Amino acid sequence: MPTALITGASGGIGAAFARELAKRQTDLVLVARSQDKLHKLAQQLQEDYQIEVEVIVQDLIVPDAATNVFKSVTQKNITIDLLINNAGFGDYGSFSQTSRTKQLEIIQLNILALVDLTHQVLPQMQQRGSGIIMNICSISGFQPLPYLSIYSASKAFVLHFSEALWAENQHTGVKILVVCPGPTQTDFFEVAGFNKMSNSGSQNQDIESPESVVQEALNALERDDCTVVTGSWKNHIIVNLARFLPRKLLVKVVEPQFRPKA
Ligand SMILES: NC(=O)c1ccc[n+]([C@@H]2O[C@H](COP(=O)([O-])OP(=O)(O)OC[C@H]3O[C@@H](n4cnc5c(N)ncnc54)[C@H](OP(=O)(O)O)[C@@H]3O)[C@@H](O)[C@H]2O)c1
Repeated sequence: MPTALITGASGGIGAAFARELAKRQTDLVLVARSQDKLHKLAQQLQEDYQIEVEVIVQDLIVPDAATNVFKSVTQKNITIDLLINNAGFGDYGSFSQTSRTKQLEIIQLNILALVDLTHQVLPQMQQRGSGIIMNICSISGFQPLPYLSIYSASKAFVLHFSEALWAENQHTGVKILVVCPGPTQTDFFEVAGFNKMSNSGSQNQDIESPESVVQEALNALERDDCTVVTGSWKNHIIVNLARFLPRKLLVKVVEPQFRPKA
């Protein structure tokens, strides 16, 4: 049975990946900080689908987090066939007024942990001539977002990094896919503090379910895609706006949509 390692598997899109992959008879390694949620999910999936599920409770923001995860997997003699770099968060607000620590943690989690895990897992996949790395990005990776500046910049990094890796690995047998969801029904908005947004009603329009993101991602994998934008047609328009509008105009138009309440 193949094994998938999923970061941020305690809820939202990560947990939806875990449920769908378990259904498809994939053994799992679930990584996040919430021990109780991870063990509950692991137990449920083991009972329902008779698969092996390992739990690694790890804060991916701490230095050497990826090494700890990789060591733990190696000690258990587990080979990772599918790595899903999904853990991530945003912090809404004017950059100068948001917490410096939180902004740096976004970079640590959304970028550094993802790069480090990928760097530890990819060489083994290349040696075997098989494997899949899926990086969960966002439509916000396609354009700068005022009041989510570090988050959108972190996702731009994930987008560029993943697409470059896809090209590097065309002939290695390793598949790379970058998944770009739009607004999705998870704890993301609560964690990011979106209730401070003046236009916050708009965030609920065309919101996708995490299960739908997962289905679209797995379909894209079968098509050997490099990048997939999930959700409604609006998401496809948003990711293409940056191609046609002058950059200054684009950020000027977006700014009032995201401006915090006075
Ligand atoms: N929801 C959206 O609208 C949306 C849209 C586009 C892209 N995305 C992306 O989708 C991915 C998943 O987010 P989600 O929407 O499913 O949000 P979520 O429900 O808040 O889930 C985030 C996951 O990341 C984990 N996580 C957070 N901080 C962590 C840390 N320091 N160390 C380890 N794990 C950590 C959380 O688990 P613990 O708290 O247990 O650690 C949780 O499992 C993120 O990369 C996000 O940027 C989301």
